[in-house]
Amino acid sequence: MKVAPSILSADFSRLGEEINAIENGGADWLHLDVMDGNFVPNLTFGPPVIKCLRPNTSLFFDVHLMISTPETLLQDFLDVGADLITIHYEATQKIDEIIEIIKKSGKKIGISIKPNTPIGTIKNLLDKIDLILVMSVEPGWGGQKFMPEMLEKVKKLKAWRDNNPENYHYLIEIDGGINNENILEVKKAGVDVVVAGSYIFKRSNYKAAISSLHQ
Ligand code: DX5
Ligand code: ZN
Repeated sequence: MKVAPSILSADFSRLGEEINAIENGGADWLHLDVMDGNFVPNLTFGPPVIKCLRPNTSLFFDVHLMISTPETLLQDFLDVGADLITIHYEATQKIDEIIEIIKKSGKKIGISIKPNTPIGTIKNLLDKIDLILVMSVEPGWGGQKFMPEMLEKVKKLKAWRDNNPENYHYLIEIDGGINNENILEVKKAGVDVVVAGSYIFKRSNYKAAISSLHQ
């Protein structure tokens, strides 16, 4: 299972150093939470910040777009070095078009769903995508409480993939409230990639925090 620290809980005044520290601490991916103050009430950062971070690390850039009409800025995120772009199912009417553009660029495409969106809603997209991101908190902030009932979505996704390996190749990622107390349950449900923000960045030893999620 991969661990993708979310820099949302990092010290933004020392972002480069923070990323080096989690890279040295064994992070597999870097999770970048982009928020627009519209799809979610909070605001974070966009392509210029990601562009500055790109030469600083060789970590895989897992870009989570919590923005309305992500098609508008899609090319910018591709240009600044995103490796995987995850858009929200609820944020656009142009999912098929977005999938096509990202696939053509050679990068990976993920789809995310908010806690209240049933998993069946995106079933017809599963054969076209590289990753599905199950939100286990309402998107918008770090440090919220994990919603264990979201693991039912993970179990369904795993069963669908196991039963249809020819058509389904997606990774299952979970985001929100992950810590050392729920990680075993999360792993057992079938998650391939865990995002963790506050659990890692609130600790002084990032390596120990990341290892505790890997085990
Ligand atoms: C929430 C973000 C998450 C957030 C997770 O909208 O998508 O990636 O950083 O933070 P924690 O791990 O603190 O719940
Ligand atoms: Zn996220």
